[in-house]
This record gives sequence, C-alpha cells and structure tokens, in this order.
Amino acid sequence: MTAKASYELRAAGEATWTVVVEGFDPLTERGVEAVLAVANGYFGVRAALEEGGPSSNPLVIVAGVYVPTTSPARQTLLTLADPAIMNLTINGQPLHKSSVHTTKHLRELDLRRGVSRRAWTFVDREGRSWRWESLRAASATRPECYLYQLRLALEQGDAPVEVALTFPRGVVLMSESRDPQTELVTARDAQTPDLPKVASLAQAARADVEGGSISALVEPGKPLLMSSASPILGVDSGGENGECDFASLLAEHERAWEERWEVADFGVAGNPGLQQAARFAAYHMLSAAAVNEGLSSIGPRNLSGTAYHGHVFWDTEIFVLPFLALTWPEAARSCLIYRHRTLDAARRRARSYGYEGAFFAWESTDTGEERTPDHVVLPNGPAVRILNGEQENHISADIPYAVVQYWRATGDDAFMLRYGAEVLLECARFWCSRVSPAAQSCYSIRKVIGPDEYHEGVDNNAYTNAMARWTLEEAESYVAELRRSDPEGAKALLRRLGVKPEELREWGQVADSMCRSSFLEDEVVEQFDGFSDLQEMDVVAFRQARVPLDIAVGHEAVQRMRVVKQADVLMALRLLPELWSEASARRNMAYYEPLTTHTSSLSPPIHALLAAWLRDGPLCQKYLEQTVEIDLGNSFLGAASGIHVAALGGLWQALVFGLGGLKFSDRRLEFDPFLPLSVQGLSFTVLWRQRRVDVRVSDEGILDVKVDGPPCEVRVNREWRVIKPGRRESFRFDPAVTYWSAREVGNGADD
Ligand code: BGC
Repeated sequence: MTAKASYELRAAGEATWTVVVEGFDPLTERGVEAVLAVANGYFGVRAALEEGGPSSNPLVIVAGVYVPTTSPARQTLLTLADPAIMNLTINGQPLHKSSVHTTKHLRELDLRRGVSRRAWTFVDREGRSWRWESLRAASATRPECYLYQLRLALEQGDAPVEVALTFPRGVVLMSESRDPQTELVTARDAQTPDLPKVASLAQAARADVEGGSISALVEPGKPLLMSSASPILGVDSGGENGECDFASLLAEHERAWEERWEVADFGVAGNPGLQQAARFAAYHMLSAAAVNEGLSSIGPRNLSGTAYHGHVFWDTEIFVLPFLALTWPEAARSCLIYRHRTLDAARRRARSYGYEGAFFAWESTDTGEERTPDHVVLPNGPAVRILNGEQENHISADIPYAVVQYWRATGDDAFMLRYGAEVLLECARFWCSRVSPAAQSCYSIRKVIGPDEYHEGVDNNAYTNAMARWTLEEAESYVAELRRSDPEGAKALLRRLGVKPEELREWGQVADSMCRSSFLEDEVVEQFDGFSDLQEMDVVAFRQARVPLDIAVGHEAVQRMRVVKQADVLMALRLLPELWSEASARRNMAYYEPLTTHTSSLSPPIHALLAAWLRDGPLCQKYLEQTVEIDLGNSFLGAASGIHVAALGGLWQALVFGLGGLKFSDRRLEFDPFLPLSVQGLSFTVLWRQRRVDVRVSDEGILDVKVDGPPCEVRVNREWRVIKPGRRESFRFDPAVTYWSAREVGNGADD
C-alpha cells in the first residue's frame, strides 16, 4: 500500500525533516554519532568523523549476529570497522580537525532520504581552502550495501595538491582499473575480491595497490570524488557482475525511503519541535526494522550503539511493534517470527524451571536462550546479582500481547495459524503452570519483577498478573473462535501442540481467579503485595538528580522504598484500558505518577499517553517534552551508547494513541482525540486490515478520516459510521469525551 495521501496536514519546512549538528564538541560526540546514525535493519553505522579521534566510537553494527564477550552479558552484537574511517593526507600532512582551521562544520541527518551528511570547510596549514562533503547511507533496497561518498574540493589554491586516502587495516585494495573516458578508477577490496568496494575516483587518481591507498591530484574545479558501495558481511548485492553504480544505488535507496514515508509520515501542526521529534522517531524505527522472516529483531538501541549488547527485550514488542504493525506490517511480522523461532529455547527454559509452555528470555539473542547478565558491577563498587532473567516474567505475556495486536491490526490469519497461535498458546501454558494457589482462593504469581525493576522478588505484581490473565483468556478465546471459523485448522493446531480440552478449561479457571488483575474498583491498585507499606520518600528530589535510585541509595535500600522506576500499574492501564473505569484510571494515575522516577526511557512517553487519555494537557505536554529530550535534548548526551528505540516507539504511541485517541480492534477503529495546547493539529496514516486510513485531527474539534480499501467502521466519541472506500468524512469531536465516557452511554463499543 503505497498510494499517495490525497490530502495533507504535514507540517511544512525542511527543518522538521533534518537533525542538524553544528560545530564539534568532544563531550557530546558519541551521542551525535548515534543520533545521526544510518541503518537498514541489517546493519547500522554510527556517524563518526572519518578521520577518527579520541572522542569517536566508529562502528558498523550487524543485526542478529551475536558473538561471545567476556562481559557478564556473554553475547554481544557483532561490530565491524567502518570502511569509511580512513587516514587522509593533504600534501603529505595528516588531516585532523586539530591540524586545520575549521571555518564551518555541519552534520545533518536527512530523515526523508535516510542519509547522514557532513559538510566541513577548512583552511590547511599552507592557507588553502577546502570543502569536504561526505554522505553515508545503509541501503534500504540492498541489505548488505553500505553507501559512502566523499567529495573533497580545493576551493582556493593555485597548484594541484596530492590527496591520499589510506583505509583501515583489513581493507586493502588489490586491483584497480581505469576508464579513460570518465577518468574513473575502480579499486577492489582484497577481503572480498569477488565484490567491489567501488571506490570511484574522479580526476587524475591512481590506486596504490600495494600500500592499500588511493591518491589523487586535486586542483580548483577538479575535486576528488570517492564513491563506495561496500558489502557488509560480503553478501552479494545482486548487482550485475557484482558491480554497483553508486548514483543509481543512492537513487533507489532514496526512493525506498520516500515510499516508506508515504505511510509513516506524521504531521504535528503548530509545534515544529514535536514534528521533528515524531519524524526522528519514525526514522529510527524504520531503520531498525527488516523483513527477513525473523532472522533478527530489534535491540533497545537499534543499531546505533552497543548498550545492552543488542539483546532483544520487551521494548520491541510493547513499544516499537505498534508502529510497525500499523505502518509496516511485514516488518512487524518478521519481528514476531523471530520470537516464534526462539520458542524451542523458551520451552526448554520453562522445563528447566519446572514450568510448562514457553518461558521467553528477558534478554534474547540469536537462539532465544536467556542472556541477561547474572551480575553487574555498580559504579560505586559492589557487584549486584541481576535477577531480571529469572524474574521479569512478564515478557511471556508481552510477546503474545504483541502477537494479538499485530493480528488485530492486519487480519493476518495465516501468520496466526502458522506462528502466532503457537506463541500465544504456549505462553498460556506457561502462566497456567507459573501460578500458585493463594489463601484468598485466588491464584498468585510469586517472586517476580514487574516493569518497575527497583523491586525484586515481589508477589502479585499487578501488571504481571493482569497480563498473565489476559494471555490465558486470549488463548482460550482464540481457540474458541478458531473452532467456529476454521474447525479443521483448530483441530490441527491443538493436535500439533497437544492441547487437551481440560487444559483449555483450566486456563479459563485460572484466569477467572487471578489475584490483583481487576482494576474496576475506584481505588488505588497495589503494585504488588506490601507495596503500600514501603517507606515514603521524596521522589521529586531524585528525579532532579537524574541518577538511577539503585545507584544513588544502593540496591538493597531501594527495595524498601515506595518508589517506582517506570510505569508499572500504569502500564496495565496503557495496555488494557478496557479493564479500567475512568475513575479508577484517574485515581491510579494521581497516585503513581508522583511516585515514579522515570529512570527508564520507557516511562515518560507512557505517562504522556495516559495524561492525554485523562485529559491533563499540561502533564501530557511535560511528558512529551521529556520524551523528546531523551535522545534529542541536552546536546544528544543521553544517546552516547545508542538511541532509545522504545522511547521513540512510545512517542509515536503517545501521539497516535494518546493525542489521536486511536484504538483498534479487529472490527473497527475508534478515536477519542485530545490535543494539548501546544499542538494545533495532527495527521497520520495507519494501515489497518487491507485499508489505508488517513487521519487528520484539528484543534477545532474536527476529525477527518479517509479510507482506501474496503469499507471501514469508525467511531469518533459517540458517533458511528461506516466509511466507504475513497471517501473522506469529517466528524465533530469533544475533547472532554474520553474512551471511557464514550463507552458509558451503551453505544456498542464493547465487542
Ligand atoms: C528498563 C526495561 C527495558 C530495558 C532496555 C531497563 O532500564 O527498566 O524496561 O526493557 O532497560 O531498554
């Protein structure tokens, strides 16, 4: 579905399509490298200066390929040397920022084209003026292909000057050929002799085959131009005889990005900062994803940095997947197939703990075995055992939740039968075996860590229990529905997984009597048994200090404090709003928001989303700003070890689900929009069950919907319509009407 949107409210202006960094600051350089990184789901390249330097961390990071490490994490994503890092000499003098006088240094990430550029003008020691322009891209059309181009022009100077480039160790040029017509030299890389490292050098260039360098005589009007299309990991690019023409490779890459933006672009009227941040978020999520039948998935820092060693967490399913499911479903499907591919490891793991079904790894790599480090050495000294691998069990509900969300968004029954159902049913089995009977004749889940990782070994974490219950119910109702719609398919599935009728009944019974999994009472939901007895503390003071509390006060002390690292009970509100009443939602938001330190980047966007649902404009605005700041604020300092892809997914969700008020099921789309004062309008597109749906929300209380594809049932506040294909319809909305109040009038919102 790539049809062009026929009407627009995309905020104008190139500024919102770029992230620009002027000058150079060694202190923030590593953050800049990550923020301006390019990636294509297969590999990513940090935007390091080509001449390197002590503040640089140049890397090519390869998705899905994990190698052993001596750190407690045991496995880390494979990183390679960036082929664009080179030693460059001008007239024999090494070029460094310190060896020349810089007149301008500018870098920009071109979000629209998926390209990172650098423009640098400088005067060398002999007084000649130069202009450097370089470009990096991770080809969006050829997974292995890294595009790099350098143009170095002598702007002022009277004689030809020799410029020489030497590539890092391991990239040795083994042959060259010269085309007399174009004066281009093509040099090949010795490591992958069958494939070109097409270094095309304009002008009187020559390649020094032995020394691994390329040199050229540069004079005014005759710049050096080097274009290279390097195969990362030596995968065949499919180009004719392995040869690639740089210009056409770049053009096809840019076209592919243009097509992606046809669906993924997002308009925020009246707020250029938020507009830019929304595009930045979509850019990094689009860069993160690959359609590769589950060969790899997405780590918390995408391919822009090595934090968390590229392990895969719930960040992917709960934070990034909604964006992918609704704008690039093939990529969402691929991420979920990755989880299916790791099912056997999850099954083995469940057995090893004495459970049944699938116990997914909290930190997963290529095989799905648990890769959470077993200890960490804190900056202030002691080594602390990490229990998340054993206890952060909610991952086995987060994954099936994402499976079902994807299925509802796409109607991809074939995926469900082949992959999704198995994940869902095996997770239901896990939870059924994970619970233990408790005194009040309800089922408990003991010794877990909820999303709030400050508290370990707790009983009855409300989020975990609610999500476990949801998994059990959903598995049971999926089977019931399949039996109706496809009795043969249902039989085959149950036979394949060995699911007996009594097992299905048991899932229903356990779900019905799960402790702490209902939120309808107008009271504060206790985050886990005993949370309300914990010691009070001044959370606001800690928020300002911005230091993780377990480091500030110590790991043991934080366990005793009534404080929350990130949305936890509120995460259950975000994912399962239908289980809540509005009064209860308000009460719990009012209670938990002030207790939360937000020392995880996952937290602020969820609070922004919930503040929008609860019509608190200033709070929503505050958390939107805080979310944007995570990577783009503070001179990018926070992104030094990689951008935070979950927060970016969270930002998209805060805008689409929060401000846009979108909810989707397999039957209809529902909208209860609310715009904070700083936003005058929103426009976005979602792909929903073979339809392209363009949505526009204005601060004058109008919501427009246009549907391409089959008729679509839409609810806006209390009004229902079926929108015909190709039609654009306008609804009036009242921002005071919430999702909950719209349902109260018995308008059939319940399925
Ligand atoms: C958060 C987790 C998250 C992980 C990776 C942790 O700090 O608490 O929820 O999955 O970072 O982003």
